[in-house]
Amino acid sequence: MTSTDSRVTIHMAASLDGFIARKDGRVDWLETSDEFVGGDKMDPGFVEAFLKTIDCYVMGSRTYETALNFEAKGFGWSYGDKPTFVLTHRDLSRTRDTVEFYSGDLARLVNERLRPAFRSIWFVGGGVVCGECLRLGLANEVRYSIVPVLIGEGIPFFEKLDKDIDLHLAEVNAYINGMVELRYEVRN
Ligand SMILES: NC(=O)c1ccc[n+]([C@@H]2O[C@H](COP(=O)([O-])OP(=O)(O)OC[C@H]3O[C@@H](n4cnc5c(N)ncnc54)[C@H](OP(=O)(O)O)[C@@H]3O)[C@@H](O)[C@H]2O)c1
Repeated sequence: MTSTDSRVTIHMAASLDGFIARKDGRVDWLETSDEFVGGDKMDPGFVEAFLKTIDCYVMGSRTYETALNFEAKGFGWSYGDKPTFVLTHRDLSRTRDTVEFYSGDLARLVNERLRPAFRSIWFVGGGVVCGECLRLGLANEVRYSIVPVLIGEGIPFFEKLDKDIDLHLAEVNAYINGMVELRYEVRN
């Protein structure tokens, strides 16, 4: 059974030239010193309420390893107590009860396991997994946050797309730190 009102969202932040990390995986460029006069402020109360609407997260193993590194450096775990599905063929260490590892057919995971159980399903990276999600036609929307920086080379937002994917621009927000968030519906 597939829940008809479940929704799969892809969300990542990228440089203006379309990279989500440097080639070696570093994301030090995510914090910039830009200021866009007239841009919206990120209201912490709104962000907290919004995060509550997300029911589960899906990520690739390399994104998981980055999240663990962040946590080890004292920045905390970004995914709260929400179920978090990590794609890997390896035997990685499971650091909390909310983390579940999955290997294999992504369409089966989404359609048979996640959609019946969760309404708001967020793919949070990286490029390999988000590319796979789009290629398989699993995503309903893409949220693309453009950071005001060019980094020249790196890991692309979507790995290896083999066909065009038509989108509908549904929302645009510009923030005081110069970040622009684009929300697109995937047109099937
Ligand atoms: N800027 C942002 O918003 C943002 C967001 C997220 C991540 N990032 C960055 O992006 C980088 C990681 O992205 P990435 O594209 O290199 O990797 P990724 O998508 O995070 O992970 C790819 C890995 O996931 C596993 N995988 C994928 N599909 C699978 C499947 N169907 N079954 C089992 N395992 C599967 C494989 O890992 P195994 O080798 O373990 O099998 C694969 O190597 C990191 O540097 C991270 O910091 C940035």
